[in-house]
Amino acid sequence: MRLLMITTGLLLLLAVSCDHPETGSAQKEKFIDSLLSEMTLEEKIGQLTLFTSGWDITGPVLNENYRQDILSGRCGNLFNAHTVAYNRELQRMAVEETRLGIPLLFGYDVIHGHRTIFPIPLAEACSWDPGMVKKTAALSAKEAAASGLNWTFNPMVDIARDPRWGRIAEGSGEDPLLGSLYAHARVEGYQGTDLSDVFTLAACVKHFAVYGAPQAGRDYHVVDLSERTIREVYLPPYKAAVDAGVATVMSSFNEINGVPVTASKAYLTDILRDKWGFKGMVVTDYTSINELIPHGVAEDLKHAGELAFRAGVDMDMQGSVFNDYLAELVNEGVFSEEDVNRAVKRVLALKYDLGLFDDPYRYLDEEREKAVLYSDELMEHALVAARKSMVLLKNEPVNGTPLLPVQQSVKKIALIGPLADNRVDVMGTWHASGDAGKVVTVEEGLRKKFPAASIKVLKGCDFTGNDMSGFRAAISLAGQSDLVILAIGENHQQSGEAASRTCLDLPGVQQQLLEKIHETGTPVVAVVFAGRPLTINWMDEHIPAILYAWHPGTRTGDAVADILSGDCNPSAKLAITFPRNVGQIPVFYNTKNTGRPFNAENKYTSKYLDALNEPLYPFGYGLSYSTFEYGTISPDKNSISAGDSLTVSVTVKNTGKCAGEEIVQCYVRDLVGSVTRPLKELKGFSKISLDPGEEKLVQFTITEDDLRFYDINMEYRAEPGEFRIYVGPHSQVDEYVTFTLNR
Ligand code: GLC
Repeated sequence: MRLLMITTGLLLLLAVSCDHPETGSAQKEKFIDSLLSEMTLEEKIGQLTLFTSGWDITGPVLNENYRQDILSGRCGNLFNAHTVAYNRELQRMAVEETRLGIPLLFGYDVIHGHRTIFPIPLAEACSWDPGMVKKTAALSAKEAAASGLNWTFNPMVDIARDPRWGRIAEGSGEDPLLGSLYAHARVEGYQGTDLSDVFTLAACVKHFAVYGAPQAGRDYHVVDLSERTIREVYLPPYKAAVDAGVATVMSSFNEINGVPVTASKAYLTDILRDKWGFKGMVVTDYTSINELIPHGVAEDLKHAGELAFRAGVDMDMQGSVFNDYLAELVNEGVFSEEDVNRAVKRVLALKYDLGLFDDPYRYLDEEREKAVLYSDELMEHALVAARKSMVLLKNEPVNGTPLLPVQQSVKKIALIGPLADNRVDVMGTWHASGDAGKVVTVEEGLRKKFPAASIKVLKGCDFTGNDMSGFRAAISLAGQSDLVILAIGENHQQSGEAASRTCLDLPGVQQQLLEKIHETGTPVVAVVFAGRPLTINWMDEHIPAILYAWHPGTRTGDAVADILSGDCNPSAKLAITFPRNVGQIPVFYNTKNTGRPFNAENKYTSKYLDALNEPLYPFGYGLSYSTFEYGTISPDKNSISAGDSLTVSVTVKNTGKCAGEEIVQCYVRDLVGSVTRPLKELKGFSKISLDPGEEKLVQFTITEDDLRFYDINMEYRAEPGEFRIYVGPHSQVDEYVTFTLNR
């Protein structure tokens, strides 16, 4: 007990001696230095250690002794632990039963909500609404912080061009501009303006870097890319997160061109700290230090620890390598204690900024937890986000009128498919502690929306396997109905981490079910739930209406019903290209022209014998219940000089019968460069609302900065010459104007 009194007293003394510790960086520095001077080397290394609790499992290795490690000072940080009651006891152990009482960080994968689940990030990316995405992050932080957490391992900003990779679900698609805007928005949403605010979380941008480009789309596989592609396509979103003030960075599992990032000084120090000015803390991904051995760059764990620490890693997630070997490396003179202090200061600074030294229990208030979880603002935003993320891919007339919106006069609806009455899979991958009990199913949403209709529900088949025994009843029901709504796609484990697929068709026998239901002749609306683009070519050819719902989260059923009924006019557009088949991958909008661009008249041009070059659906594509007409693109000048800018204007008119939103997109092409340049690059977009018949003027300003790229000498600059500016509803738009950047 006496030791306890000294400990608590010491921390309080340190805190009090800095007045209110949150004011002034000098006082923060003084507090941290004072505390550091009290710490043993082992206690310092404990602060560089992050262990998982037993609450949730997010990786291959567990540690049953985390409680003992907290008490011994070997574990200064925990993840996969939440609820106030559970975390308060763990924090009490750290604060009241260790020598110095340094509070724990509590991290968790709050990826798209905590208990209330929002659409998966790839879905939200289709909203083209960074403000909405920022609000999702802020509300996720509020609910998670109220549950005893203070750190999230998000935003995941890995650009991905390969839908075979299951983690494409967690990111924001293929475009660096869109990805950078969302990265910035999420960091601001999670962290707010004051990390010590009890409704904010420290964010962690991941997975630095280029984790989204594994060979063959196979998770954890080699990344081998040109330096130019890495810099122009994959790095911008990480930089955007750093520029937004992200508190921590997570090093990725993968190698880049032969060097695993967790052992890469080039990435973790030269780029991240020296070039970008990152001052926060670098944490590894799950046991990624240990994995330097199978990577083949470390002989043993001690060597792995040395490589990682030297590269710039501060905190070891779940590997216990720093715990087991860093002291030895210091005692052998491989590192100095000052080297260790540098890393420990970053951890203590984060805890300080979170206000944990001021009040270690500040995030552990049960009354606040009860008041915040599932609150109306969370539930309402979950619906708003789901409505804004679902992409209408097709809506063809049946008997002269578009099948959607479904009329209230419809009498008999057959709702068929494994996602019809489903609470867990619609939350998608990384739904962590999402509460399935709060999910509104598709069935529940439709019954509320169409109270006069007779709605009969059948699963028809499962997500996996070949069992077609449910087909007969489903086909019979479809044949007796006025409309079939098919709720089909992937379950939540068929995308996400360690969930790469070589075939992107509907899983199991769902394609067969789809075709049998189609054969009945009853009109079919397909609602597809997935964590990635699927190769739904047959569906695109035969089914009149397709709504791509992704995995929409807690308010799934309400959002689907709002859109199918027309109470919500869909506005989302794809943030990722949909391939026709796996053979086309990688296929993305900002590709190059090649020296032999496809020409139907000439055999010897770039094409396939068995498929078109074009994707099934292009980046930026999405329909509305309205129709929009674009006027001519008018530039205010046809040449600019260095430092100058040019503005293009275009009118957009709602030629439909209902109010709607249109995402107007602006792309640029650099016709001639010292290196080959993409056919298009997204340089701006504007989401506008238009009433029927209303038209608006939309303007985009292009500056010289927008034209920069890594030239033949890898210098980031714009080169004089001719450019095209395209403005339209998606990335395959043909209308453009030209302008010149003068020498
Ligand atoms: C996982 C993931 C990472 C996550 C971490 C902690 O392996 O790669 O995204 O944040 O472990 O759960």
